[in-house]
Amino acid sequence: MDQRSTFQSTYPWTKAPVIAQAPMLNIAGPELATAVSAAGGIGFIAGGTDVSNLQDKFQKAEQLVKEYKAADGSPDQNCLQLYDGPNLPVGVGFLSWGADLNMALPLIVRYRPCAVWLFAPPNSAADQVPWVEGIRTQTGGSVTVWVQVGSVEDAIDAVTKLQPDVLVVQGSDGGGHGLQHSASIVSLVPEVNDKLDAKASDNSSSLIKPKIVAAGGLVDGRGVAAALTLGAEAVVMGTRFLASLEVPIPKGYEQAIIEASDGGTHTIRSAVYDRVRGFLSWPSKYSPRGIVNQTHTDFVAGKVTEQQNYELYQQALKKGSPGYGPNGRLATFAGTAVGLVKEILPAGEIVRRTRKDAESILQINRLAKL
Ligand SMILES: Cc1cc2nc3c(=O)[nH]c(=O)nc-3n(C[C@H](O)[C@H](O)[C@H](O)COP(=O)(O)O)c2cc1C
Repeated sequence: MDQRSTFQSTYPWTKAPVIAQAPMLNIAGPELATAVSAAGGIGFIAGGTDVSNLQDKFQKAEQLVKEYKAADGSPDQNCLQLYDGPNLPVGVGFLSWGADLNMALPLIVRYRPCAVWLFAPPNSAADQVPWVEGIRTQTGGSVTVWVQVGSVEDAIDAVTKLQPDVLVVQGSDGGGHGLQHSASIVSLVPEVNDKLDAKASDNSSSLIKPKIVAAGGLVDGRGVAAALTLGAEAVVMGTRFLASLEVPIPKGYEQAIIEASDGGTHTIRSAVYDRVRGFLSWPSKYSPRGIVNQTHTDFVAGKVTEQQNYELYQQALKKGSPGYGPNGRLATFAGTAVGLVKEILPAGEIVRRTRKDAESILQINRLAKL
């Protein structure tokens, strides 16, 4: 089956190549997620670890979906107009090391997001089994399961234990949290594909290969076309949406994203950004990638102790927007492709442009082969 039929049969409002938006903690709310889905992508609300306000987010998403359905405009611009399926056409993401299944599950059952995205179990995929079993049993399989992993080993573990519908393969370039040690999607996606193909064709194995989606370093049509060429069936973008109208981030953060260049040198994956914020519960194999700033450089240069760094961070928080940027101290999560993000746009426009550019590149490549 081609990617158009596999994704569109499950998520009928989407258009190929499918662009999903990452469930970014404290950033990806119902406004962003519904705008992405209305443009033919798949938006995810960030559920994070604190599920206490998830009901409000689902309610808001339901209301926004109703508004998109009722709105004028061509179905090309508003892909939700003709959607009348039983699921909410947005997903929700949880951080497995901290989210409470007993609180989340009744809300998943009630609001039926199209997908639940799981990331970062405390130890291994085995920790996520109760989530997957609960979601599948209680929704009659109508809510699909996406699992994000960052290594070949974790991919095999997740597919063997959880049989997710979609495996999000996150490469080292990704913004926010990811594995401290990982490869870029350039080698990770093909290697995961090869290993899963080999396992799936082994007669003694009952493994069912999920759809493979690439994440990490993708912000435009060139990246999307490359990821599909590497063997992904769809893509996830996080960093690109930090420069969209629908995200509630401080101006200083937004400006730092637009001004950053050369993400390989100006972003870093560093646990220091968790420690200064008092975020100590992340499993130790993960750390966040963000723009290099004083919090990181002062600490690695030995200019401040851990405690001083923490206190300076608290002072910077009081400054708000001026606390961001390379000379600031506030955590500014972004991936290595941040240097390609130069314009703040409506999220729907980002999805449409990226999809169109990727399509043209893939079409040119196809024609070149004739
Ligand atoms: C600001 C930010 C916050 C993120 N928060 C989460 C999160 O809460 N849960 C999650 O599964 N992934 C999170 N991620 C990682 C994304 O799922 C995804 O892997 C990443 O954004 C892809 O790389 P890109 O940023 O280069 O597009 C976050 C990423 C960013 C940039």
